[in-house]
Amino acid sequence: MKRSPTLEVHPMLREIKGETAFTFLALARKLMREGRRVISFGIGQPDYVTPHHIREEAKRALDEGFTGYTETSGIPELREAIASYLKGRFGADVDPEEIIVTTGAKTAIFIAIASYVRPGDEVIVVDPSYYAYAQVVKIFGGTPVYVPMAFEPGYGFKLDIESIEKAVTSRTRMVVINNPNNPTGSVLSPEELEGLYDIIVRNNLILVSDEIYDNFVYQGVRFKSVLELEDWRDHVLYINGFSKTFSMTGWRLGYLVARRDVIPSILDLAVTVYSCAPSIAQRAGVAALKGDWGPVREMVSEFERRARVLYNILSESEYIEAYMPQGAFYMFPRVSKFLRRVGMSIEDLVYYLLYEHGVLVIPGTSFSELMGGDHVRISFATKMENVVEGSRIIVEALRLKAG
Ligand SMILES: Cc1ncc(COP(=O)(O)O)c(C=O)c1O
Repeated sequence: MKRSPTLEVHPMLREIKGETAFTFLALARKLMREGRRVISFGIGQPDYVTPHHIREEAKRALDEGFTGYTETSGIPELREAIASYLKGRFGADVDPEEIIVTTGAKTAIFIAIASYVRPGDEVIVVDPSYYAYAQVVKIFGGTPVYVPMAFEPGYGFKLDIESIEKAVTSRTRMVVINNPNNPTGSVLSPEELEGLYDIIVRNNLILVSDEIYDNFVYQGVRFKSVLELEDWRDHVLYINGFSKTFSMTGWRLGYLVARRDVIPSILDLAVTVYSCAPSIAQRAGVAALKGDWGPVREMVSEFERRARVLYNILSESEYIEAYMPQGAFYMFPRVSKFLRRVGMSIEDLVYYLLYEHGVLVIPGTSFSELMGGDHVRISFATKMENVVEGSRIIVEALRLKAG
């Protein structure tokens, strides 16, 4: 039937893409509803429920009737708890007045980029990285400029500082990094971060750093936050959240840190977009930061064991260039040898593994404009039995096909 064009959406919406990882998760869910068993390496959230004491605090808040709007910037107890976490963890002197609590890190990404990117601005986005940054840049008329990380077989991904420097033009406004990185599991070394910051300072750029995986760091790797950099207040917008560390993806709680004098303007945007983060989630967030971190530590140790097992098993395949992730809960191995040998695309491989072998991985194209066709993302946020069985199936499935 012919429809009136009245509701045709803004052409800009055709330029942006959604979270395609969700599309593949939906395919796996459909198979499971049809009775098929699927081992999913697709999900971007911990397979743990929110620790008990955090849920208890939310119940208390509910029973007390703490159900109204709060300050847009977040309840003072939560901003104080965040400031004291940042002080304890990184020695950073962040004032509670420099924090805006958001409905998840995703909203922090949105308001950070929206507050600074003007039409025609270029924003350097490290590739691969979380899909959302480039989309928000496009929404505000900016151009994402993708700079590839270097893939080193056996090691993983490294930030290519020289390529970043070369990508800077007179139109560059901002650089966005995700550290530890989704989907590569790489962690910037202190030297890489300092090298990048030097470029930021010399070129008067803004550095947006999404550090939502900051507690998922393995192999004794030293994680340096941008809040440890000298004069971060002149250049940095810092993003973090509760979704991953405390298994609170459904609670919608994150935060943005920026210098005090820019906060009122960003708050005008924030109040217009979401009024405030959920009141009950904010109370739970205080309990998360101030309560027992034992469950977080246990989860992270378990994730490190899974990463090791995944790495060991995938390394048995001559077609998978696996490496031990340093952080987050993903590996982004290169599988191009296999694809070339059998003449498949990365999507063909994902469908082959899902429909013929019952294992879900996400095609690299969901995270990378430049190298997505050669990699898959494997999330090890699933129990150890699944990691062992699923990775063995992958190795065997590739062998069966390629001989
Ligand atoms: C790098 C990164 N940033 C932000 C988010 C979104 O986090 P939130 O649930 O706090 O909105 C994700 C979720 O996958 C992520 O991987």
